[in-house]
Amino acid sequence: MSPLHVTRTLPEDATGAALRADVRHGLTAIPKTLPPKWFYDALGSELFERITGLPEYYPTRAEREILVARSGEIAAASGARTLIELGSGSSEKTRHLIDALASLEAYVPVDVSESALAQAGRALVAERPGLDVHALIADFTAPLELPATPGPRLVAFLGGTIGNLLPAERAEFLALVRSQLVPGDGLLLGTDLVKDERVLVRAYDDAAGVTAAFNKNVLAVVNRELGADFDPDAFEHVAVWDQDQEWIEMRLRSRAAQTVKVPALDLAVDFAAGEEMRTEVSAKFRRDGIGAELAAAGLELTHWWTDADDRFALSLSVVR
Ligand code: SAH
Ligand code: TRP
Repeated sequence: MSPLHVTRTLPEDATGAALRADVRHGLTAIPKTLPPKWFYDALGSELFERITGLPEYYPTRAEREILVARSGEIAAASGARTLIELGSGSSEKTRHLIDALASLEAYVPVDVSESALAQAGRALVAERPGLDVHALIADFTAPLELPATPGPRLVAFLGGTIGNLLPAERAEFLALVRSQLVPGDGLLLGTDLVKDERVLVRAYDDAAGVTAAFNKNVLAVVNRELGADFDPDAFEHVAVWDQDQEWIEMRLRSRAAQTVKVPALDLAVDFAAGEEMRTEVSAKFRRDGIGAELAAAGLELTHWWTDADDRFALSLSVVR
């Protein structure tokens, strides 16, 4: 059995320092925000996995449907020998692609969630003897230290996670991905599509309250890491569709006037009753829009596949 390599490019404290900077910036901004990458501690990753199985949360099932139907075509078009997956989480859907890529030698899952990576990596090494698995604990918005594995490379970015970046961050991210590839390499991108508002809102505000728990988990992370005294019950989960930006916006609404202390930042933060803090956006896409964003980064969209109900798209782009 091939070994599992795990490389941490996030120094133990980079997380702490970055968290402090992000939280200070966000909680002193008007309106207040808290940045999404801090959702994914071990509990956050587990709650996200539960979200993927909810009846209201269609993106995972729609993307899996496309992967099951199209992995053969994707494999033929890319011929990848190395598959790099950004924000790989459980790597669950990716197995369809790994099975189809006949020339695949190495799989490089990249995630900030060490617990998700370790679990997924161990399972893959056991299931796919002969596949080199190099797990990278890293932030995909910064340059990666990729292992020296053979090309061509295919970068997969699934789950619609690109929608969690703001437009300017997205442009920067796509340019960064392009800069780490050479001609012959490709990008397989999962994008959730613009659709009926009610369907979208339900996907981010489920009846069982799992998404609410996931959203509020960011408060628990700030409490644990920075000694803050957020009371999760004093906030309400809100998901709204922004028609102009074409994104779902997740917020936490303060149920009453309250002051939250963040000792590690020497900060006391006042919330008015009903004040809303933005925690995450999830942008929804159209073919022309994302095609133009890819082109601006030097990537040419060559394939576009959707599920039978046109809810979600997988696109393949090549380096020009
Ligand atoms: N690809 C999986 C998981 C999507 S959830 C799926 O489609 O189901 C988003 C994943 O991206 C989480 O595992 C989270 O830990 C990871 N993530 C979020 N921001 C990140 C960042 N800046 N760098 C690396 N990983 C990140
Ligand atoms: N990438 C996922 C998405 O945008 C992340 C996600 C799903 C999410 N549900 C959420 C993020 C709820 C914050 C809150 O669909």
